[in-house]
Amino acid sequence: MITDNNSMEYRKRPVLFFDSGVGGLPYLLHARKQLPGERFVYLADRVNFPYGEKTVPEIRNAVFRSIERINRVEKPKLIVIACNTASVVALSDLRSKFNLPFVGVVPAVKPAADFSDNGKLAVLATLRTTEDIYLKKLIDDFAAGKEVKRFAEGNLVQFVEKKFFDTSKQEKLDLLSSTLHEVKKNKYNTVVLGCTHFLLMEEELREVLGEKIRIVDSRDGVTNQIKRMLESYNLISKSKTGEDNFYVTGNDPPEKRYKLFAEKFGLIPAGTVSLV
Ligand code: DGL
Repeated sequence: MITDNNSMEYRKRPVLFFDSGVGGLPYLLHARKQLPGERFVYLADRVNFPYGEKTVPEIRNAVFRSIERINRVEKPKLIVIACNTASVVALSDLRSKFNLPFVGVVPAVKPAADFSDNGKLAVLATLRTTEDIYLKKLIDDFAAGKEVKRFAEGNLVQFVEKKFFDTSKQEKLDLLSSTLHEVKKNKYNTVVLGCTHFLLMEEELREVLGEKIRIVDSRDGVTNQIKRMLESYNLISKSKTGEDNFYVTGNDPPEKRYKLFAEKFGLIPAGTVSLV
């Protein structure tokens, strides 16, 4: 694995964050704060969004195709699959297919189980993730004996991806209040954000859930894993050169909201990556 990584040139290659849409952006932001010497690039697979409603083979094909194409454009030295759905479904295949280090994002069930006092955990994720054997295994391995309920929240994913900039704070709070009604009513005291999109609503989620319910995500674990991997492959860059580019898949010009998301996260809109 990786043969020519000792050159300065190779270390200057970017770290790629990938998601079906904009969900991976808060993860990129978190990593960038701790790795200031790295260049970060982002690809949103707009063409195949949403992954959560697709079959396993459809998701695998979509992820492979996107990674293959962006590899040609940006030649990343490490790839973060900043999408729980894609990680759960395709991470091990990606590792065998591409000669690159991968970091995945999966629901933070273990830390959540360690925190939960009354043993009641709610995992919010996409339909695919909630049904996948991978999540079932995570729960069996790390939260045995706890009451864990999975909530498929595809509507919330759509809302974040498509309506984020067109809605007021009050509309966001209203949507979350009805989405999280059952979580609050049944006194879950820990909520796992098992879909990266939900982190874009972190502030509103905290407001709706209140102080007594703990919200858990996997940003710390993911950033630490990126650092560890870069160090172990001798790939850490000390000084950054080049722009942090933001791409979407497809051929049509990106919708305005992608430009707004790129700006919000300090990335440069860099256009499209064709999948054909
Ligand atoms: N952001 C993705 C995740 O973490 C899923 C969004 C989608 O359904 O495409 O699972």
